[in-house]
Amino acid sequence: MLNRKKTQIAIILAVLAAICPAAERPREPVSIIPQPVSIEYDDGCFQIGPETHVIAENEAAMEASKLIDALAPAMGFKLALTNASQRRRGSITLELEKGPFKLGGEGYMLRITPRRILIRAKKPAGLFYGIQTLRQLLPEQIFSKTKAEGVKWKVLCVRITDYPRFGWRGLLVDPARHFIPKQDLMRFIDIMALHKFNSLQVHLTDDQGWRLEIKRYPKLTRTGAWMDFTTMRHGDEAKGAGDKRPGGFYSQDDIREIVKYAAEHYISILPEIEMPAHTGAAIISYPEIGLYPDKLSALPAEKRWNANERVLAPRPKTVEFMQNVLTEVMELFPNKYIHIGGDEANIGHWKNSEEMQAQKHQMGLKDEAELHSWFIRQMDSFLSRHGRRLVGWDEILQGGLAPGATVMSWRGQQGGITAANAGHDVVMAPTSHTYFDYYQGPSGKEPKAIGGNLPLEKVYGFEPIPRDIAAEKVGHVLGVQGQLWGEFISNTPHLEYMAYPRAAALAEIGWSPQASRDYKNFLTRLRCHLSRFDAVAVNYRKLD
Ligand code: ACM
Repeated sequence: MLNRKKTQIAIILAVLAAICPAAERPREPVSIIPQPVSIEYDDGCFQIGPETHVIAENEAAMEASKLIDALAPAMGFKLALTNASQRRRGSITLELEKGPFKLGGEGYMLRITPRRILIRAKKPAGLFYGIQTLRQLLPEQIFSKTKAEGVKWKVLCVRITDYPRFGWRGLLVDPARHFIPKQDLMRFIDIMALHKFNSLQVHLTDDQGWRLEIKRYPKLTRTGAWMDFTTMRHGDEAKGAGDKRPGGFYSQDDIREIVKYAAEHYISILPEIEMPAHTGAAIISYPEIGLYPDKLSALPAEKRWNANERVLAPRPKTVEFMQNVLTEVMELFPNKYIHIGGDEANIGHWKNSEEMQAQKHQMGLKDEAELHSWFIRQMDSFLSRHGRRLVGWDEILQGGLAPGATVMSWRGQQGGITAANAGHDVVMAPTSHTYFDYYQGPSGKEPKAIGGNLPLEKVYGFEPIPRDIAAEKVGHVLGVQGQLWGEFISNTPHLEYMAYPRAAALAEIGWSPQASRDYKNFLTRLRCHLSRFDAVAVNYRKLD
C-alpha cells in the first residue's frame, strides 16, 4: 500500500516536472492539512490573476467575499465577484448544490481545470472548507499579510472530494488562568479555521478569574476578574502582585463580537462555566454561594481566593444563582451545547459541612457523589428545558450521569467509553493525547509547562474510537478536542507555541479518514505547512 502510494507520488512529481516550471513546483504534489478524503490529479495548472472572476450567488456569495478578502493582501488585487449569469472562463465558481449531495453539511468537491476552479457543497460551511483547501493549494506566500511580489498564483489541476470523519473538532483555551484579549482570540480562530476546526471551548471561569460579564451579578467581574496575586506556579504560594492586579474580562458586547466572528469561520464558541468546583473567583465575589460565607468575608482579600476550597455549596439558592448565570450565557452563546465543568470537585468539603450533610439526608441522597450528581442534574434539566445540551468533564459520571449530558472524557478514554456504551454522546479529550499544555519535548529544553509529555507523534497516533465501545454505540463519539490550559500560558505567542504544530496533527485526527493516517506523510506535508505558519507569523514549535 505504502509502496503503491510512493510510486503514485513519484509519477505525479514527474508529471508535474513536465507541466509546471521547477521554481513554481511545490515540494510534494500538494500539502494539505488535514489530509482530504480523496485527491486525484489531472494535467496542467490554473493561474489566478486580476482578471479572474469569482462567480457565486446568494449564500455562496458570502463565502466568495471571504475568499476574495483572504486572497487580496498577498495577491495585491481584489478579484471581482459576479453572478452565475455572467459565467465566463477563467473563473472561480462557488456553488451550493440544490439536489442530493453525498458529502454532508461540511463536505465539498473541489475541481480545478486549466479553465476554471469549481467548489461545490451542500451548505456554506462546505464551501468555506473548500476555500481553506484552495488556499493551501496556492503557493505558501498566499498567507502573507502584505503583497507577495513576483509570485505566480498557480494551482495544480486536481479533483478533491472531502468531508470530515467527526462533527466535533475542537480546541480549548483558558482565559480564566491568563486572560486572552479579544483580538488574540480572533487570531486564534483564524488559524483554527485553516485547519477545519469547528469548535472552540472557552474556559471562562475558574479560581483565578471570572471572565464573562453577567449583568445580574456585576461583582463576578468587578471583583472576580482581578486577582490579588500572580498566577499560580508549581508549589508557589499565592503572591501579592502589588498595585498591578492582573486580569480582564469580556463584556457582553465583546462576546457577541467574538461569537459572530467565530461563526463566520464556522466555529462554534462553547462557553464553559465551571461548577461546582474551580469557582474561587465566583465565591470571593459572592460569598453566599460558598460553604461558609461568614468565615470568608472575615478573611483578608488575598486569602479569600484559596478559602472554602473553592467548591460551591450546592444549596437550592446556589442552584438558582448558577441558573441565572446560565440564562445570560444562553442569551450570548447560540451553541446548542453549554459546558458546566463538573471536574475535580473536592466533595469531601461537603462531608465536613453540617449544612450540606443535613441537605443530603433531607434529599435522601446516599453520599456526596449523589449530591454532586443532583447538582449537575439541576443544570442539565434547566438547560434541556431551554433547548440546550449540557456538556461536562467525565467526573459528572459520579453518582449517576444526568440524562441529557454529553461527556468530555479527559482522565483517559474510560469515561467516554462508559458514557458512550450507556448511550450518551462523548467528546474525546484525554490527557494522554490531547493536553497541549503538556511538554512537547524534553522538559529541560522547553519553556516551563504544567508537566506531562506529549510529543507531536503521539498526538498523531491518537485514535478517538477505542475498541471497548460497542459497534452500535460508536456514533456517540462526536469527536475530539485539544486542551490548552492556561496556568503556564501567559501570552499569545506562547499559546501558539503550545498549540502548533500539535493542533495540526489533531485536526487531521478529527477530519481525515483513519485509513489515511501516515505519520511520515504527515511530516512531509507539515514541513510545507510550516512555511504557511511563517507567512502568518504563527509562533509554532520547530520540528525536532
Ligand atoms: C481538567 O483538566 N480538569 C478537565
